[in-house]
Amino acid sequence: MSAAPDRLSHPGRWLAPDTFVGRVAVVTGGGTGLGLQVSRGLAALGATVVIASRSSEHHAAFLTEARARDWKAHSVVLDVREARDVRRAAEAIAADHGPVDILVNNAAGNFVCPAERLSSNAWRAVLGIVLDGTFYCSQHFGRGMIARGEGRILNIVATYAWTGMAGVVHSASAKAGVLALTRSLAVEWARFGLRVNAIAPGPFESDGARANLWPDEETKRALEAQIPLKRFASTDEVAAQCLWLLAPVSDYVNGECLVVDGGASVGGRMWAPGTRFSRSRGTDPT
Ligand code: COA
Repeated sequence: MSAAPDRLSHPGRWLAPDTFVGRVAVVTGGGTGLGLQVSRGLAALGATVVIASRSSEHHAAFLTEARARDWKAHSVVLDVREARDVRRAAEAIAADHGPVDILVNNAAGNFVCPAERLSSNAWRAVLGIVLDGTFYCSQHFGRGMIARGEGRILNIVATYAWTGMAGVVHSASAKAGVLALTRSLAVEWARFGLRVNAIAPGPFESDGARANLWPDEETKRALEAQIPLKRFASTDEVAAQCLWLLAPVSDYVNGECLVVDGGASVGGRMWAPGTRFSRSRGTDPT
């Protein structure tokens, strides 16, 4: 028996309930973390959602919830690093569920490792998933969108794509590439009716990030102290902005990268907010 849909429990709850009715959406890495929240929001607002990731174990949570809520949900096992598999998946999904309207390139791999110790396999693994995978999916799902003259692609980057960050040279380099890809395709494919945008979260709460990017609560508190809003985003808050960029309300937004980082990437770092100091001639910049 189906549970009554609980509209308050998904990140798109402030959009119209029929926002994505009739749309087919593919979310890579859509079974965990941010991808799962975006998938939940799309499905709750009417889309047919296909999640695509390497491990079928990661599909279970979304598919189980979807059954209980009468969402239209499916999954495919896919390693986005394999161009041929991406092409086959794009063809199969279109054949089974209809033309794909929305692609969210969310699949990622990341861990903190000093650059001088990063193996070539580790570099390749992250570049392969993040940069190659985003391109292969954009190309193969994008071809169907081009044929129909309509489509929306959202890429997940990170603010360190342009600031750089110690310890994640592999991910930062890959995300910088994805940002360039986003802007290039936004210009190139606009004439076919496609919108290509990106979202750049700062650190946010997710199991993957917690396991791979900060080892303990003390490190997390130190990172939070550097953010003007003094906290990480929730996954839900980031997913809500993803849904906003995918919704028709954003139909004139193209080639944009929306930063969702509590202000962490702007402003100087010379003085902490509220610092008071005196100069020899007595002016006080605070
Ligand atoms: N530190 C250093 N090197 C690491 C590493 C870490 N924490 N994790 C993986 N690597 C290296 C491996 O040692 C291997 O290199 P080697 O063959 O020279 O030893 C290489 O990366 C590939 O790792 P492997 O696990 O075989 O590849 P994979 O393709 O299955 O997975 C990742 C690679 C990065 C995707 C995997 O570590 C992962 O699943 N991470 C968690 C998911 C994630 O990152 N989510 C996003 C959070 S923001």
